[in-house]
Amino acid sequence: MIVAIDGPAASGKGTLVKKLAEYYNLEALDTGSLYRAVALSMVISGDELQDHNKALQHSLNFDFRLTQSPDLRTAEIGVAASKIALFQDVRKALFSFQRKFATNPPAGKSGTILDGRDIATVVCPEADYKIFVTAQIEIRAKRRLKELIERNQPAIYASVLNELRDRDVRDSTRKSAPLQQSIDAFTLDTTHLTADQAFKTAQKYIASEPINRQRI
Ligand code: DC
Repeated sequence: MIVAIDGPAASGKGTLVKKLAEYYNLEALDTGSLYRAVALSMVISGDELQDHNKALQHSLNFDFRLTQSPDLRTAEIGVAASKIALFQDVRKALFSFQRKFATNPPAGKSGTILDGRDIATVVCPEADYKIFVTAQIEIRAKRRLKELIERNQPAIYASVLNELRDRDVRDSTRKSAPLQQSIDAFTLDTTHLTADQAFKTAQKYIASEPINRQRI
């Protein structure tokens, strides 16, 4: 089975994916880490993020090992990833990797789960289950702040909130594959939910939906 999880930054997708992947024995891909890896590779090379051709080169020579880099999870790389994600051909270069991952679960796994911004709409429109995870922006900012502080990264609430606002606008208004809810996705608002409650709500949705929509 394929599970597609979309939603804005810091909405709770990551934690939910970990729990669902473990429970349903799925191989997980955080697709944001691919965009972050391309952005990190540009920053390491000293390239300008606005340089479209350079961004394309970095995405065509995409090195999966960079997705494991400890430098991937900084606020700076999150913003940079959102900027290079605007380029349609960068998205195209990362698309095939995501498709291959989604449709080829490793032996012993029951399927795949991918999270991002355009999984249900563009990458896996045939997914068996589609969940759109959202939460009030102030709550998302508090969660992101906590995460950054736990990683010893200096951060203040007001700038985290502003950065999330900017990122929401950039991610949802871009021309190519913007962040938007697929019409057939289940909405999971995590504003007032603990991670366990969010997981149980997603589990109930999966149990209530028949598997295998029309596969493309
Ligand atoms: O989920 P994240 O914060 O790690 O994602 C970083 C950026 O990558 C996000 O702001 C936009 C981009 N992204 C995207 O355009 N499409 C995806 N499927 C995943 C991430």
